Amino acid sequence: HPEEREARRLLAWYDLNARRLPWRSPPGTPPPEPYRVWLSEVMLQQTTTAAVAPYFARFIDRWPTIGELAAADEADVMAAWAGLGYYSRARNLVAAARFVARRGGFPNSEAGLRELPGVGAYIAAAVAAIAFGRRAVVVDANVERVVSRLFAIAEPLPAARKAIRTATDSITPAESSGDFAQAMMDLGATICTPRAPRCLLCPLAPDCAARAEGDPARYPVKAAK
Ligand code: ADE
Repeated sequence: HPEEREARRLLAWYDLNARRLPWRSPPGTPPPEPYRVWLSEVMLQQTTTAAVAPYFARFIDRWPTIGELAAADEADVMAAWAGLGYYSRARNLVAAARFVARRGGFPNSEAGLRELPGVGAYIAAAVAAIAFGRRAVVVDANVERVVSRLFAIAEPLPAARKAIRTATDSITPAESSGDFAQAMMDLGATICTPRAPRCLLCPLAPDCAARAEGDPARYPVKAAK
């Protein structure tokens, strides 16, 4: 079954090649706290892993639990956020922490997570999969690139998003969908890069339609300006 083969290959690759990022637990070990996953995903939306890492460490150091973040002064959180940009994220962070503290814990479904301020489709899917082991279809820009190449989706972005989501759904496994999502992100960040992808190192190369065509970097196709 080709769909299951992609997940198997990718998860085997991830076991050996997962980036050891501070908000993760290693593949095959119990998942990180929802608080850590949510905080990291909010920080990572619009910001690189390298820029996020020191901020994430400082936040966890200062507010080790969601309860402590909920009790924080918003001004202190804004000050700790300074430099990360997109400051509405920090305001939403405090509002979401208070919401979660009031209800006594994180919702564990995508729909429940979507009710938190600042949590959209991507973060809800990522937290549901990574922290709660739910099967969720997680699509960020890295995943868009990997999937549009794997399936040679010729339609331009943004119209291609529907086809990309359907294709991602078709290869997302029932189990380990959090590891699968993070493996796709790591593959996009380190191998299936925007320019000059390193196909010789890619576990999905045998089935990659864009590679078979000979010019994988032409995907994802962007709409003409
Ligand atoms: N970018 C956004 N979320 C990420 C994650 N969990 N791992 C790596 N890169 C990411």
